[in-house]
Amino acid sequence: MFVAKRLHICVLAAGQGTRMRSDLPKVLQPLSGKTLLEHVVERATELGRQLGKEPLIQVIYGHGGKLVSELAVQLGCIATEQARQLGTGHAVMQALPLIRPEDAVLILYADVPLLGSETLERMVASAARNAVVVLTAELQDPAGYGRILRDVRGNMTGIVEHKDATDDQLSIREINTGIMAVQGESLLRLLARVGNHNSQGEYYLTDLIGLAVAEGLPVGTVVAPDEVEIMGVNDKLQLATAERALQYRQAMQLMRAGVTLRDPARFDLRGTVTAGKDVEIDVNVLLEGQVSLGNRVRIGPNCVIRNAVLDDDVVINANTLVDGAHVGAGAQLGPFARIRPGTELGEGARIGNFVEIKKSVFGRGSKANHLAYVGDAEVGNNVNIGAGVITCNYDGANKHKTLIGDDAFIGSDCQLVAPVEVGAGATLGAGTTLVSQAPAGKLTISRPRQITIENWQRPKKQP
Ligand code: UD1
Ligand code: CA
Repeated sequence: MFVAKRLHICVLAAGQGTRMRSDLPKVLQPLSGKTLLEHVVERATELGRQLGKEPLIQVIYGHGGKLVSELAVQLGCIATEQARQLGTGHAVMQALPLIRPEDAVLILYADVPLLGSETLERMVASAARNAVVVLTAELQDPAGYGRILRDVRGNMTGIVEHKDATDDQLSIREINTGIMAVQGESLLRLLARVGNHNSQGEYYLTDLIGLAVAEGLPVGTVVAPDEVEIMGVNDKLQLATAERALQYRQAMQLMRAGVTLRDPARFDLRGTVTAGKDVEIDVNVLLEGQVSLGNRVRIGPNCVIRNAVLDDDVVINANTLVDGAHVGAGAQLGPFARIRPGTELGEGARIGNFVEIKKSVFGRGSKANHLAYVGDAEVGNNVNIGAGVITCNYDGANKHKTLIGDDAFIGSDCQLVAPVEVGAGATLGAGTTLVSQAPAGKLTISRPRQITIENWQRPKKQP
C-alpha cells in the first residue's frame, strides 16, 4: 500500500493545437465561458478538496507561451515550460524536479476538459495499490489512440501507439485516454529510462507501463464511465461538441435540482447558478457569470441574465437582458427590456418593452412600461414613468444624476436634464424638458401653450 503524502497534478498543455486554426492557443479556447485550461484546473482543485489535500498543480506549457503560463499562475498553479514538444513523456520529464517520491502524481491533459471528479478519485485511489494507473475507454472507433495491451489473464502489459501498432493490435478497441496516476517513486525511476526509439521519435509517457510490468510492479486500469468524460478537444467541431455535452450535463443537474427547463437542449449556462423552488425557464435562455434565482422565478424565451440576483416571484418576459442587477421580489420585466449593471429594482417594480435602465435605483412598485431610458437615477417608490421619458444623464463630458421622489408621475416624452430633481408627489406634464427642480406635489410643465392658427392654409403644389 502506497500512502501518498501529497497530490501532485501535472496538466499537459504544451501542444500546438494547429487544428483550431486560431490565434488563441488551444487550451485558452472557451468552453461554457471558461478556458479549457480553467476547466481542467478546476477539476484538479475540486479533486484536492474532496480528498482533503491541497494539491500542487503544475501546468506544462509550450505553445501559446506567455498567455498560457500567465493564466496558469493566476489560477494558482506552477507554470513550467516545455520549450520543445518531444512527446508526452518528455512533457512530464519537465515536472520531475518538483515531484517527490511520496507524491501521488496525476497526469491530466488541458484539452480533455470534461473529466468527472469521481473518475479522478478512482484513479488516485487505485494508485495506492498500483504503481501506474491508466484511464482507459472502449471506443467504437479507436483510430489514432494508443491501444491497451493485456495478457491472457486480462492484466495490462503495455500500451502501443496507433502508429507503432501491428494489424492485430489495431483491432483492439480499448484505448489509452492519456490520463494516468503514478506513484511518485516509480515515476521518478521509470521516466528516466523512457527513450524515443519509436516511429515518431517521441518520448512516450505510455512506455511507463511496459517498464513497470518488466519490473514486476502492479499496474491498474480505471475504465471511463462514458465517452464524454474523456473527449479531447482539437478543433472547433470538437469544441462545439464538448460545449453541447457540458451544457446538457449542466441542464440535467439543474432539472434534478427541481428547475423546470422547457427544453434542456436549448438552455445555456456559462458560469454558476443557484435556484430556489419552482423556477421555470423557457427556451433559448442564457445565464452567464453568477446568477441567483429565487423561488418561483419565471424566465421567458430568449433572455440573457448575467451576474444578477432575481428575488422570489420575479417574472422576466421574452427577449429581455438583465446584466449586473438586483431585481426585487415580484418585479416584472419585459418583453424587450434591458437592465444594465449597477441597477437595483425594488419589489414589484415593472419595466416594460424597450425600456433601458442603467446604474439606477428604482423603487418599490415603480413603473416604466414603455420606451424609456433611465440612467444614473434614483427613482423613489410608486413612481410612474410614462412612455418616451429620457433621463439626459450625459452632457458630452460627464454623467449626472436624476433624483425622482416617491409617488411622482412623469408624463410621456419628458426629458429630465441631469443633474435635476423631481420632488415627491410631483407631476411632470407630457413633453416637459426639465432643467431645474420640479417641486414636490405640484404640476410642472415646460411646453408652450397650445394655439390654433385660424386662417392658416397648407401650401399648395405650384402648377
Ligand atoms: C497520447 C497517447 C495515446 C493516447 C492519446 C489520447 C502517448 C505517447 N500517447 O497520444 O496513447 O491514446 O494521447 O489522446 O502518450 N503534450 C505536451 N507536450 C508534448 C506532447 C504532448 O504537452 O510534447 C500534450 C498535448 O498538449 C496534449 C497531450 O499532451 O494535451 C496529448 O498529446 P497528443 O499529441 O494529443 O497525444 P498523442 O501523443 O498523439
Ligand atoms: Ca503527438
